[in-house]
Amino acid sequence: MSTTKTSAPQKREGFSSRKVFIFAAIGSAVGLGNIWRFPYVAYDNGGGAFMIPYLVALLTAGLPFLFFDYVIGHRARASSPLAFRRLNRKTEFIGWWHMGINFIIAIYYAAILAWAARYLFYSFDHAWGDDPQTFLFSEVLQVADPAGLTFDFVPGILIPIVVIWVLLAVIMSLGVQKGVGLANLFFIPVLIIMFIVLVGYSLTLNGAMTGLDALFTPDWGALTKPEVWVAAYGQIFFSLSIGFGIMITYASYLKNKTDLTGTGAVVGFANSSFELLAGIGVFAALGFMATAAGTSVSEVATSGIGLAFIAFPTIISQAPGGTFIGVLFFGSLLFAGFTSMISIIEVIVAGVEDKFNLGRVRSTLFVIAPIALISTVLMATTSGLYVLDILDNFVNQFGILAAGLVSIIVVAYLLRGLPILRNHLNERSSWRMGRLWMLLLAVITPIILGYSLINTFMGLMKEPYGGYPDQMLNIFGWGMVIALLVAAVILSMLPWSKTSRAALTPPAPPISGGKVVHDHVDATVKNVTAQGGK
Ligand code: PHE
Repeated sequence: MSTTKTSAPQKREGFSSRKVFIFAAIGSAVGLGNIWRFPYVAYDNGGGAFMIPYLVALLTAGLPFLFFDYVIGHRARASSPLAFRRLNRKTEFIGWWHMGINFIIAIYYAAILAWAARYLFYSFDHAWGDDPQTFLFSEVLQVADPAGLTFDFVPGILIPIVVIWVLLAVIMSLGVQKGVGLANLFFIPVLIIMFIVLVGYSLTLNGAMTGLDALFTPDWGALTKPEVWVAAYGQIFFSLSIGFGIMITYASYLKNKTDLTGTGAVVGFANSSFELLAGIGVFAALGFMATAAGTSVSEVATSGIGLAFIAFPTIISQAPGGTFIGVLFFGSLLFAGFTSMISIIEVIVAGVEDKFNLGRVRSTLFVIAPIALISTVLMATTSGLYVLDILDNFVNQFGILAAGLVSIIVVAYLLRGLPILRNHLNERSSWRMGRLWMLLLAVITPIILGYSLINTFMGLMKEPYGGYPDQMLNIFGWGMVIALLVAAVILSMLPWSKTSRAALTPPAPPISGGKVVHDHVDATVKNVTAQGGK
């Protein structure tokens, strides 16, 4: 670390305007969850009636938690670990936990982007022939049978995944404004236009209305089922990218006087609008697929990998203008996913920049080199799909949800920090938060998150996830979840270098027991000021 000792902390970059931030935040929020998750979740949980729990979830937990993330990042002007450290020295581990969660997501998100990139090209020659399912598993992914860890590389995945990582390294090295900001300013409008054209075109397909009927016909009985409400809150949390450091990091790049809640509302509603649009487009296309096959929509409705890489190829082969649909669909998936990926990596790069003061380019390489290597080794092999599925399921349930729950409980009850955070929001925002905001965060959100966590845990105790070999679940599932927590605690105990950003006078004094601790001087800071440093 000899290099860091001599260099002064670098000036912190930020977004040049609120507009750039909004694009970046929408870029993160609008991702695979909007395109391949929401339509099926809505369909499966009451159809048209799902809009009620969904909107309630957005208003009672989604937006309140989004503002919570914003205020933590904005008040501290720091990456997640340093932001939590500036809240209170003891809460720093939550920030490292966020870093770990993003590290894991990055590993497998890159693989999905690589698949989408390949399928974009397959859209031209319909390489899947008349059996997209066999094509996906046997030819593209060459999935190992039986399920188990292998290190047999699949070149067709290896190449696009390496390309994705190189592209990311370039964009991230360019910095917050010129890299992250400009990339989103470019990708998001292109994505929106492509997607609107795709949805418009899908609506002209034969059977489109059957699909929309299936999606929107309300099943009011669903409203009485707790699992429907849990699904709505789960979708909102995942979709808004809240609770694991992303919005903390992005909000830390906003200027001091920025309308935080007004901006958040724009992002939240834009994300939900995109989700609704995706529901319409996807179900119009599924309506076509069912009509062409002479079956019902319920026979073809699916989500995730099955929707993108099996159902859509079928639609592309059968629909008039299939290649056009394919390019728009996989292009949208790729762009939506890529901008989310940028936000995932930004959390980690920002954390490393704050901690080690390495400068942007070196921090980026320091972060991307190991993740890209792990990602390639685990994902571009014949067992990539299995590892992806396990990582995804466990990190979502016991990473994102658990970290969200812990952060809110710690801040609301142990630090009693919500009133102070609320003041920070209200001092600069158009939409002022009342006591209701604190109530929703401190009571409603933990109940929902806690309930989902316990529910999933009990489910997994009864039946191990996905029928995978125990050893795989123990390593990539439970092992990974525990390792993230342990690593977070250890990393939070490492000292901060005297020239790291933590050593600068914190822009916001720490909070403890409901009070701002004005006389509390961070040990590192004391050290530095004593030596006349800045
Ligand atoms: N919010 C993104 C979506 O809806 C998902 C996402 C997950 C983004 C993880 C970043 C990190 O698809």
